[in-house]
Amino acid sequence: MPTAPKPEILAAFEAAKGFMPVREGLAVYEAAVEAGRLGLPLLEVGTYCGRSTILLADAARACGVTAVTVDHHRGSEEQQPGWEYHDPETVDPELGLMDTLPTFRRTLHRAGLEDHVIALVGRSPLIAKIWNSPLGLVFIDGGHTDEHATADYEGWAPHVAEGGLLLIHDVFPDPEDEFTGQAPYRVYLRALDSGAFTEIPATGSLRVLRRTGTGI
Ligand SMILES: C[S@@+](CC[C@H](N)C(=O)[O-])C[C@H]1O[C@@H](n2cnc3c(N)ncnc32)[C@H](O)[C@@H]1O
Repeated sequence: MPTAPKPEILAAFEAAKGFMPVREGLAVYEAAVEAGRLGLPLLEVGTYCGRSTILLADAARACGVTAVTVDHHRGSEEQQPGWEYHDPETVDPELGLMDTLPTFRRTLHRAGLEDHVIALVGRSPLIAKIWNSPLGLVFIDGGHTDEHATADYEGWAPHVAEGGLLLIHDVFPDPEDEFTGQAPYRVYLRALDSGAFTEIPATGSLRVLRRTGTGI
């Protein structure tokens, strides 16, 4: 099984709009390939324009599983007009609202990965409510408010299979480091406190936890 993406996949990742640094992307890929060995789907919350999805999808392809990615495609709070992470190219000119779905679809098509991804468009808690299947990996990279990060954890972490991985992005223990807040950090602490997850080394603001017990 590969531990790093092929150059063309890495190039597609680097060319894609999004927020994940290369170093963290490589760690996501490595975790996804490891989790893919369980033979279960790999799920991401927070598709945006598909940057991290490319890596999950390629790892899923290598492992013979499917990547699932969840997003309402209307952007997080900090991506709205007037905020630091806003990209005017993501606005639907007809509606005047963010819509990252068309860019995501182009990104995935260009990377040749459409056949390996199921894209679910909607609010994460609504989708989680009707999800009833074990997952090899859950990658939480959705909304960064406490409301959203907590709902993502409570909605999706229960589905991480024994031995599977829970990844949390944008974990900043120092409040000075991140202006979108520390909700992912609080979710990470909660996962560790639950006793259901054991941390394995990661990089940057990415945290990787393995399910070694029951519950959340
Ligand atoms: C930080 S971006 C994801 C970045 C992406 N993983 C990448 O590699 O570029 C967060 C995404 O989560 C989505 N999002 C935020 N809250 C959500 C919710 N409650 N349900 C579904 N999607 C949500 C936003 O629309 C946004 O596209």
